[in-house]
Amino acid sequence: MGRFEKSIAVVTGSGSGIGEQTAVKLADEGAKVILVGRTKSKLERVAAQINEGLEEPAATVYQADVTQEDQVNQLAGFVEEEYGDLHVLVNNAGISGKSSILDMEAEEWDRIQDTNLKSVFLVSKTLGRLMKEGETQKDRAIVNVASLSGHKAGAKIPHYSSSKAAVINFTKALALEFSVSGIRVNSVSPGFAETPLTEEGLKNKRFEEAIQKNTALGRVGRPGEVANVICFAASQEASYMTGSDLLVDGGWLIK
Ligand code: NAI
Repeated sequence: MGRFEKSIAVVTGSGSGIGEQTAVKLADEGAKVILVGRTKSKLERVAAQINEGLEEPAATVYQADVTQEDQVNQLAGFVEEEYGDLHVLVNNAGISGKSSILDMEAEEWDRIQDTNLKSVFLVSKTLGRLMKEGETQKDRAIVNVASLSGHKAGAKIPHYSSSKAAVINFTKALALEFSVSGIRVNSVSPGFAETPLTEEGLKNKRFEEAIQKNTALGRVGRPGEVANVICFAASQEASYMTGSDLLVDGGWLIK
């Protein structure tokens, strides 16, 4: 029996990277997974991989931009109508960018905050309501993907660092509010993992070497290694954990 047998799960930004690996693992362990993202073709590729050889498909694609309240509301309507309940929510969608504070346009600041922070609020609000009202007797959990940068500010990513620090604290506020409904809420903070988000940076050998040098484990992480911890936080194994942040940074912060 998998840890997510009979669970319904939503993973945002699951067309690539950490979200993709999380969706694959949740489905592998029995969940029905709704893959949410902006680019249908990316989500369809992941869904095809998950559903291959299954009699009943485990993955469904839902195209939505999680910064848009109307689209998030429609997503909640879809989940309620098609599944009637929700047990696991992974707020993973996120973007990065590089700019000094003095050169940054306000639009760029807003774009990062909207995608990394406001979306977590919007999705947690609408889908959280469905989780609270759900009738199946099952463990329920939300996992928000924050970042090492939410703990330690990085040069030229002030918008990213501040959005992720806010996700860590928003997670705690949400955990307090949802604890009365038995919904656990935690965040996972990855260090550097090899995904489309870090692809450009990692092409620079000096950047990769710097990561290796500054990471206690001496290497860049794999998206599946982060997904493992997200799935732990979402599972019954973490039944006494809420309002926590789990660092998956290969020991960057201790070095
Ligand atoms: P990724 O770029 O592969 O995944 C992010 C996904 O979010 C993409 O599929 C993208 O299309 C989707 N997305 C972006 N904006 C969206 C929107 N408005 N609506 C719906 N979907 C949207 O990158 P990765 O690395 O897998 O990132 C996943 C999360 O992990 C992000 O929140 C990121 O900030 C976080 N993270 C990643 C680290 C890394 O080293 N890869 C380090 C620390 C945090």
